[in-house]
Amino acid sequence: MTTLFDFKNGIIDEELLQCINGLKCGKLVVFPTETVYGIGANSMDKVAVDNIFKAKGRAHDNPLIVHVSDKEMIYSLVSNINEIEEKIIDIFCPGPLTIILPKKDHIPDNVTCGLSTVGIRMPSNNIAHILIQKSGIAIAAPSANISGKPSGTNIEDIYSELQDKVDYIIDGGVCDIGLESTVIKVIDNKVKILRPGKISPQDFINNGFEVQLDEHIFESVKNNEIVESPGMKHKHYAPSTNTIMVYSKNEEKQINKIKEILKTNKRVCIIGYEEHFNIFKNVEYISMGSKYNLTQISKNIFSALRRVDKLNVDICILEGVEKEGLGIAIMNRLIRACGYNFIEI
Ligand code: TXA
Ligand code: MG
Repeated sequence: MTTLFDFKNGIIDEELLQCINGLKCGKLVVFPTETVYGIGANSMDKVAVDNIFKAKGRAHDNPLIVHVSDKEMIYSLVSNINEIEEKIIDIFCPGPLTIILPKKDHIPDNVTCGLSTVGIRMPSNNIAHILIQKSGIAIAAPSANISGKPSGTNIEDIYSELQDKVDYIIDGGVCDIGLESTVIKVIDNKVKILRPGKISPQDFINNGFEVQLDEHIFESVKNNEIVESPGMKHKHYAPSTNTIMVYSKNEEKQINKIKEILKTNKRVCIIGYEEHFNIFKNVEYISMGSKYNLTQISKNIFSALRRVDKLNVDICILEGVEKEGLGIAIMNRLIRACGYNFIEI
């Protein structure tokens, strides 16, 4: 059975204690972060970590991020941090960043899926911070969703998907950012972005770092290709409904292309900009927010994608955004959601 705790109006101490005791005895606790919700367990408890993989149906080659509350906790988990990594942590943590670092031996192998590195993240969300700090537990947590589905960003989606698969769910309201953290690794003194997020390439440049995007951010991984981050190989976010993405820098071209697709399909849903709501007729229209507000779009995108399969349509059309700033992270998720089936004109 799953117990739901409502912390939207503040943390309730006795219930927090229940979650902390739960973590200490191997239970799974879903908790909010500023990016997306996580399914948490004590990272030092091998059996509890295994239960995360079972609850999600997660592939056993896809490592978990370990969540910490302060730098001391990082030092207890990693065997080495160089000057650049230290500087990145000082600038961006706590916040929506995961940094891949060499792991210490005592972290169970199933957390990192046998890799010699571990993903470290220090969430800024207050509930997440207090849970980690008060428990003193470094929490292993993937996003709160069944593997392959969009990450959980609100309690309704999470509860319907994970009830009876986890022990406790903490409701902290809708996640501020709505997209998972930026995952980075420092290679040859350069920041390599393995998964784009709210912290953008420009944010690193502005702070004096050299930065590089992994080549798989917008491209699929070929068979047997070795990747820096195992998550890149797996299917993500895609509705079961046939999905296509359309993007052009020229808005009129984008609209005309979508109209063309509408002509040859009867039952269609569009996940598009608020401004285009009145343009497309006889379709199920899900607004992901204003085209001028990428923050709003990133917050809504996963809940929008989750609605598609309930609509009983033949095709879902996604409107793309410009690959700039937060748009890089949004397009990375949209390209995966359409299974790389996209038209860029
Ligand atoms: O915002 C987030 O990062 C959320 C919240 C809950 O913190 N977590 C999250 O976890 O998105 P998950 O498991 O859904 O995605 C973690 C990604 C995966 O793509 C995984 O392959 C990668 O991080 N990753 C984890 N450890 C890694 C490592 N040691 N080396 C390379 N990639 C790693
Ligand atoms: Mg995930």
